[in-house]
Amino acid sequence: MSLLPRLLELEGLLAEHRDLWHPQPFREPRPAWFAGWPALADELLALPDDAVEQLNDDGAAARRLLTRHLPEIGAFEALLILPQGIPAVNPVTNMHWAWGIPGRKRAQIEAFVAASQATGRPALEWCAGKGHLGRLFALKHGVAVSSLEINVVMCADGEMLARRAGIAQEFIVADALTSAVPQACHALALHACGELHRALLQQADQCTALDIAPCCYHQGVEVVYQPMSAKASLQLTRDDVRLAVTETVTASRQQALQRDRDMAWKLGFDCWRRQQGAETYASFKPVPPAWLRNDFAYFCRQMALRAGLELAAETDFANLEAQGWQRQREVMQLSIVRHAFRRPLELWLALDMAVFLEEKGWQVEINEFCTRNLTPRNLMISARK
Ligand SMILES: C[S@@+](CC[C@H](N)C(=O)[O-])C[C@H]1O[C@@H](n2cnc3c(N)ncnc32)[C@H](O)[C@@H]1O
Repeated sequence: MSLLPRLLELEGLLAEHRDLWHPQPFREPRPAWFAGWPALADELLALPDDAVEQLNDDGAAARRLLTRHLPEIGAFEALLILPQGIPAVNPVTNMHWAWGIPGRKRAQIEAFVAASQATGRPALEWCAGKGHLGRLFALKHGVAVSSLEINVVMCADGEMLARRAGIAQEFIVADALTSAVPQACHALALHACGELHRALLQQADQCTALDIAPCCYHQGVEVVYQPMSAKASLQLTRDDVRLAVTETVTASRQQALQRDRDMAWKLGFDCWRRQQGAETYASFKPVPPAWLRNDFAYFCRQMALRAGLELAAETDFANLEAQGWQRQREVMQLSIVRHAFRRPLELWLALDMAVFLEEKGWQVEINEFCTRNLTPRNLMISARK
């Protein structure tokens, strides 16, 4: 069954609610929807921290909260239901195939291989890293695998692992953006970022089958996303596309705390700028990590210096930092609205690619090849001729 109707229905709903997912509370302390939905704003700003954390990580729960204020949001749920991948049982008896692979990555690879139906054709592993996926695929299906990867050291490590496993896996050190896909191969791509998975799709005609689990959709998008399908027309900026992949579900507690503090400090500095008369948020260039390892006053001084602004010696940094933390709390509370649309946006991006393939005559399915706690990037686009 064609995926086009689902793409169009999802696109319609997303376009209708753009005012809710496009504004970033980090940049706009009071997004425009705030005035239109005061009861929603009040409810969010009264939420305790643990509820905020949970709702920011659980899109379905965030959509349930929104649905109480905007019942039409409920229409997303049916569109988000996807077939689940087959549970991964260890598919090979070779005990050494997974040597050195961290547990979660290993489980992702086993799930990807379980969900990918072999065609008997040689496989091409796109952006392979050390070729773990290709190695397991070769062991399970007894086909030759070519693993394309730009990093020479990873390729050398992968060759060693392939020799140890006794399989026919060659490594091609090459740039996926400029490489030709070999004829009639079964292409496999696990977490090839943005433009890398799109580069593979552009050469789909070379393949007999494709299994792609995309990630980092925003990579390679400069200002606005260019839909791949002729039928798709949702307008997304780079930041909108990035929203699709901003979960911290696999981040450690330590990483989450660090993220919160970095945000509070940037917002504290933003408060100071606004007190100096700046009316809008100024995009931060990437902040050198060393500035965030010192104290808040040092951070502000470095930021001011880089911006060519003068920071008075008597600045009350403790107060400013407290304002930053207050803004950080509000940003997290208000971001629940935006985060409710993460999965719908991600699915729209995957459907855009799937319908692009359908337009070229492929039979295409999208499934969830593993659970979200293994990786939130768990969508797999499978195309067969
Ligand atoms: C997120 S990792 C995924 C690796 C592997 N597929 C996995 O799931 O474990 C992305 C890989 O793409 C590789 N890569 C990045 N840019 C590339 C390019 N232009 N051409 C080929 N490989 C590239 C990186 O070196 C990295 O190994």
